[in-house]
Amino acid sequence: MKIAVLKEQASGEQRVAATPETVKKFIGLGAQVAVEAGAGVTASVADADYAAAGASVGDRAATVAGADIVLGVQGPDVASIAGAGPGAWIVAGLNPFGERARVDAYAAAGYEALAMEFMPRITRAQSMDILSSQSNLSGYKAVLDAASEYGKAFPMMMTAAGTVSAARAFIMGVGVAGLQAIATARRLGAQVSATDVRAATREQIESLGAKAIFVEKVAGIEGEGSGGYATEMSDEYKAAQAELISSHIAKQDIVITTALIPGRPAPRLISDAQIASMKPGSVIVDLAVEQGGNVEGAVAGEVVMRHGVKIVGHRNVPSRLATDASALFSRNLFNFLSAFWDKDKGAPVLDEEIGNAIRLTQGGKVVNERLLG
Ligand code: NAI
Repeated sequence: MKIAVLKEQASGEQRVAATPETVKKFIGLGAQVAVEAGAGVTASVADADYAAAGASVGDRAATVAGADIVLGVQGPDVASIAGAGPGAWIVAGLNPFGERARVDAYAAAGYEALAMEFMPRITRAQSMDILSSQSNLSGYKAVLDAASEYGKAFPMMMTAAGTVSAARAFIMGVGVAGLQAIATARRLGAQVSATDVRAATREQIESLGAKAIFVEKVAGIEGEGSGGYATEMSDEYKAAQAELISSHIAKQDIVITTALIPGRPAPRLISDAQIASMKPGSVIVDLAVEQGGNVEGAVAGEVVMRHGVKIVGHRNVPSRLATDASALFSRNLFNFLSAFWDKDKGAPVLDEEIGNAIRLTQGGKVVNERLLG
């Protein structure tokens, strides 16, 4: 059983899919691990550290040659892994909807592509969930990005020269990233409020010491669909939400948006008119910018100024904390593969529930129902 760890090719991707810790653990399971030279450099891991953990380090051709499992943060181009074993598994964040042509190419090449972002949200898969591990770091980093773009302080400060008032921060979307954003903004001393469409988040917001801002009296809407994810809301709800948010947002210094709906463009939460109502110098961070954006006028990969308000749209936020993001991502991959390790075969064997959820291609075909539907 040979496991290959690739150096990421996507522009701006600084993470790596294995660390010396997980290399050692894979070897402990009986696998042989090959790491592409330089794979860990941008995540503060030297080739020598992989070698010391027991991996062989070489160029891409040597790394993938005969590999049974190819690990990546993002999906590799199929041509770049020619030489992997027949039917090799490709285990990575494969962006199945956004990179459909690549998924088809994996199928045509006979690879079995496993999309880690399709991991079901069940208790036993929590430790394998790359969306959670990476979103948590994104939520943290979004607040730091806001703080560094903001021309004022977050905490209240009483000084001899006068008082600096606390920043007001509003978090929209309270999933994994939003919860971490609330906690981080509170730690920095901001006055924090938050909103979500899922009613269950109210208690979570309050338990973190923030104020919950919720649409009341719109009947029959819980906002929660399958797997704890949000659903698309009714027009009535959207109108009530827009009104509530408009009056609240005008008083905020910092807004962090994190709202996503699986398989759909991100919901639009902030309009240009709402941005215009904010004080000059305020900062908005749109964590959903790559999925279409929660904020009108946000541009992926840029910080833009609208009506005196900075709108931050960094791409690939977890990669901005590459060392921790890689450590957690790598553990997600190890937790996944080791949970299914069959000692007799010396290889992982997936069960139906998780296998069917994450397997995109098998036997030369695209097999995942979310892609076929
Ligand atoms: P997500 O990244 O899909 O969305 C972020 C947040 O945006 C969600 O809270 C969603 O309700 C909210 N949102 C969507 N539309 C909105 C709108 N129009 N206005 C305001 N907010 C809106 O969600 P994430 O972070 O992946 O987590 C969703 C839930 O799944 C959480 O309850 C989390 O605890 C749970 N979860 C469970 C796991 C497991 O059991 N293995 C693993 C990870 C998360």
